[in-house]
Amino acid sequence: MSDPIANWDDVAAWWRAEVATDPVYREDVAPMVDQLMGPSAGTVLELGCGDGQWLKRLADHGAPVFGCDRSEQLLTDARAVCPVALCSLPSLAWLRDEAVDTALSVFVLDLLDDVATFFAEARRVVASGGALVVVINHPIFTAPGSGPFMDPDLEVFWRWGEYLSDGASRIPAGERTVAMHHRSVAHLLTDAADAGWHLDELLEAPLGRAAIEREPSYAGQESIPRFLGARWVR
Ligand SMILES: C[S@@+](CC[C@H](N)C(=O)[O-])C[C@H]1O[C@@H](n2cnc3c(N)ncnc32)[C@H](O)[C@@H]1O
Repeated sequence: MSDPIANWDDVAAWWRAEVATDPVYREDVAPMVDQLMGPSAGTVLELGCGDGQWLKRLADHGAPVFGCDRSEQLLTDARAVCPVALCSLPSLAWLRDEAVDTALSVFVLDLLDDVATFFAEARRVVASGGALVVVINHPIFTAPGSGPFMDPDLEVFWRWGEYLSDGASRIPAGERTVAMHHRSVAHLLTDAADAGWHLDELLEAPLGRAAIEREPSYAGQESIPRFLGARWVR
């Protein structure tokens, strides 16, 4: 029988180690988060804050921050940084309207099966003039059946898989697997627009050169998008 999909408390130890040891978060993801957040984010709520790595980074820069997540285990760490709430996204029913200036969410949107409600709830809790910043695995990476392949000349291409359809796949999380949801960029941008968000900046980034040099199987992927980041304003 196949392993049932894990919840994030089951894989909390794996995620803590991942954050602590994988330089990609510092080398590739942190610059995207910094660029999209900008210099004056006001009061920030992180949606799906995990163990609080981004909350700590923002708090170190002096931002008033708080976080929420569904994993009690990971919130134990984040609580050392700032106030946190146990929650099950996409609902933010526990929070009043226009409570924060910026909502940030990193590597969470592709774990949720209802992105329309995520965008609507984020818009409700962000104050007028505020922002929503999201960083996720790029949808060409999350598409079921997608992946790299090499032609006979050793040039690396990307197989799109089922990019245009909504779908889900299992991704490894240490010894376990978690569910990852896929939607096209068009689906994500349309859901955000329907919720009333105005796109301010969109970033598409490959794995950085350092990550590719460390892992030979990534060679040739220098121009293939791996991360998607967006900043919307309300
Ligand atoms: C890949 S981790 C990212 C954590 C953090 N944003 C970071 O970048 O370090 C995904 C996080 O989303 C949380 N999560 C997944 N589904 C959730 C849900 N429905 N509601 C709240 N949190 C959720 C998990 O508990 C986990 O902390």
